[in-house]
Amino acid sequence: MTAHQPIIRPVFTPETLERIAALYPLQAGLLHHHLPDHPLLSLEALAQLGEGMPASEVEYNPGNVPIGIRPEDVPSNGLSIGETIRGIESNGSWAVLKNIENAEAYRVLLMDLLGELKPVVEPRTGAMLTPQGFIFISSPGSITPFHFDPEHNILLQLKGQKVMNVWPAGDERFAHRREHERYHTGGHRNLPWEDSYREGAQQVPLGPCDAVLMPVMAPHFVANGDAPSISLSITWRSEWSYRESEAHAANAALRRVGLDPAMPPRWPSYAWVKTVGWRIVRRLKLVS
Ligand SMILES: [Fe+2]
Repeated sequence: MTAHQPIIRPVFTPETLERIAALYPLQAGLLHHHLPDHPLLSLEALAQLGEGMPASEVEYNPGNVPIGIRPEDVPSNGLSIGETIRGIESNGSWAVLKNIENAEAYRVLLMDLLGELKPVVEPRTGAMLTPQGFIFISSPGSITPFHFDPEHNILLQLKGQKVMNVWPAGDERFAHRREHERYHTGGHRNLPWEDSYREGAQQVPLGPCDAVLMPVMAPHFVANGDAPSISLSITWRSEWSYRESEAHAANAALRRVGLDPAMPPRWPSYAWVKTVGWRIVRRLKLVS
């Protein structure tokens, strides 16, 4: 593993931190970063990182999948993760390395970056919990299907171009409450897709030195440009995000007993009430 390279200037400028302050935690938006070329993020370093990871932390497949696809329908690309990453320029693939913080040098990099965000994040959503990093490596023209994720996320574009297509979190026209409930009770991240959704998309084009702020559970799909792409996602959770997750799980339990609970508003105090109710329900053993 390459030794840690110290970052010698802020990756996020004061202007970018102000932009995050205006958007976070509910709005997606374009940001900028100054993460320089970093030896830990070269294709060869990433291939070696992937080869050392357990299979559960590595996901890869052909890149020409449709925008909407069920996880069980995603085919294999027939390669190893090392082959996928080293040949990403021409093998038509998409790959993600998950929880890179489990490798010490990458954990240091992740914590350096998240540390710059603390003064903006913590006054709004409290302590930054569960820091996780993800690295996406994808071939020209590849697609990341329509899905949502539970983390607060800033995706830094490092190489190549892509367009992030994102929809408002909590808008049931694009992800119905039952999809949230399904996800928060162990379901897959991929969402049902309709071509009519395109009209409601916020499109954020990304090139090197660009980044995008992604709200918790905002539905999105990603379309690569015509060059290989490398992106680094730095993510964290908040007490609020955990409470929202529990509120959806509570609603799933209510739905199983015949009720049709409303979508929890994306507002911390409401999610807190719902979560306390859920804990009481569990303590009374009203649900399994
Ligand atoms: Fe995502």
